[in-house]
Amino acid sequence: MPIHPTEKIWHNGSLIDWKDATIHVMSHVVHYGSSVFEGIRCYGQPSGAAVFRLPEHMQRLLDSAKIYRMDLPYTLDELCAAVVDVIEANQVAPCYIRPIALRGYGEIGVSPKGSPIEVYIANFPWGKYMPGHGGADVCVSSWNRMAPNTLPALAKAGANYMNSQLIRMEADINGYAEGIALDVNGLVSEGSGENIFVVRNGVLYTTPLANSALSGITRDSIITIARHLGLPVIEQAMPRELLYIADEVFFTGTAAEVSPIRSIDRILIADGETGPLTKQLADEYFGIANGLKPDRFGWLTPVKVPAAEPVSA
Ligand SMILES: Cc1ncc(COP(=O)(O)O)c(C=O)c1O
Repeated sequence: MPIHPTEKIWHNGSLIDWKDATIHVMSHVVHYGSSVFEGIRCYGQPSGAAVFRLPEHMQRLLDSAKIYRMDLPYTLDELCAAVVDVIEANQVAPCYIRPIALRGYGEIGVSPKGSPIEVYIANFPWGKYMPGHGGADVCVSSWNRMAPNTLPALAKAGANYMNSQLIRMEADINGYAEGIALDVNGLVSEGSGENIFVVRNGVLYTTPLANSALSGITRDSIITIARHLGLPVIEQAMPRELLYIADEVFFTGTAAEVSPIRSIDRILIADGETGPLTKQLADEYFGIANGLKPDRFGWLTPVKVPAAEPVSA
């Protein structure tokens, strides 16, 4: 979907104009993929707006940076405050927030040592990510997720999204809404930008992080909500064929939120309708995010912006 520019972007501690948030073509990140980033949503509330799980996202940014030996000169609290500042400066909510730390313009060569670290935080409207009403038609990708000890899957790094792009483009070309990648051992990993959940016989399953999956914040939210509702949750390696015979399958992600899956490789999941547990978990998730249910887990950071209607993709 096209980017809707807002007024300001946070850059290294100051708010700058959207049009000035540019980098040089010789920046390290352009050549060697050296960035780590986040995707966060700010939801409308009955009065105002609130960012969903802000500290958890910014902690993951710090963790991703740590894996890549990027010393970010900001604390968790400073990064969270910066997100609130940019949203309040732009007065845009609901919105998607994109913090990114990158290696900038300095030296040429793979070693990133001489290239400065730049941190930017932008926010802009972004509606529904996963197309399709009542469930997405998806495929299992011919591309595997990165092997362990190659590109670290726990880091949300720009370079990992070259793999995601292969998965997503193949799905698009073949007429699917999304692709599910297997890991190098042929076990289910995740979507190009989502974690995956399966319901079978009343039990909720998701893949362990060791199957090259990102440690999704939405994944954690759904596990937390499910346990709170008394549903059994098991993190378990899954063979591909378990997807086909599941009672329910859904994706989770900040962009995708909770997205039911109707079919995989043209095999209908159960009767193709969104299943009852998917509905129950999605209701609770959206209820908390939109401030219609109690924030019982302390997931919301309020921002002083009157929320408009969500923009749809
Ligand atoms: C590869 C991948 N897996 C999973 C997720 C879901 O993570 P989260 O729920 O934190 O957005 C994302 C989205 O960031 C992703 O890009």
